[in-house]
Amino acid sequence: MSSRKFFVGGNWKMNGNKESLEELMTTLNTASLNDETEVVCGAPSIYLDFARSNLDARIGVAAQNCYKVAKGAFTGEICPAMIKDCGADWVILGHSERRHVFGESDELIGEKVAHALESDLSVIACVGEKLEEREAGTTDEVVFAQTQVIAENVKDWGMVVLAYEPVWAIGTGVTATPEQAQEVHEKLRAWLRTNVSEEVADTLRIIYGGSVTGANCKELASQEDVDGFLVGGASLKPEFVDIINARA
Ligand code: PGA
Repeated sequence: MSSRKFFVGGNWKMNGNKESLEELMTTLNTASLNDETEVVCGAPSIYLDFARSNLDARIGVAAQNCYKVAKGAFTGEICPAMIKDCGADWVILGHSERRHVFGESDELIGEKVAHALESDLSVIACVGEKLEEREAGTTDEVVFAQTQVIAENVKDWGMVVLAYEPVWAIGTGVTATPEQAQEVHEKLRAWLRTNVSEEVADTLRIIYGGSVTGANCKELASQEDVDGFLVGGASLKPEFVDIINARA
């Protein structure tokens, strides 16, 4: 196994309320979590403060999106400085729901990545192909192109985690097989080796997302290039603890 620290992010998306999230956070705070795993919970922006003040300090907090500039007349948006002001250290950018439900372009995602990093906010940057792209045999092309735009906007790779999230596996109950995940992760690492650097290829955490559960996480986690997970549905349930401990 590599020396890359295992990373498990929970993406609560637009779910929960103060009561249910408090219960979830109590479960996480009192659970026995593997110290070798870095854990971050992605809270709805209106609950960032609430999440930070309720979660144990060993668990990080992420926003699920942010805008590309520091301030101004951008009704409804939040900036990295606000996220940091709420005590959160991470933001998820380029999630497939942002790309495909809200129409965010590669270019916009790149600008957001650059501004978040300049603002000292760490980034979980997501890439992934749609079902028709996989079926057409263009998975590599799609994820390399998305990664390229992210890479062009990164100066400090130490503040980035790359999430491979095939769109067909998100929220569908259809998980990529461990072999399918490993194949793309390995290719992404090779792409980084050629296009960024040896060091980044060796050290960047590449995590998998798409219908990860307590039942399938161990096998996925056993793959050489799978350095953790980004978890949606199961991050709202007590089984998130099993996913955090997938390598225990
Ligand atoms: P899921 O979502 O685990 O519910 O498939 C993953 C994600 O969107 O990050």
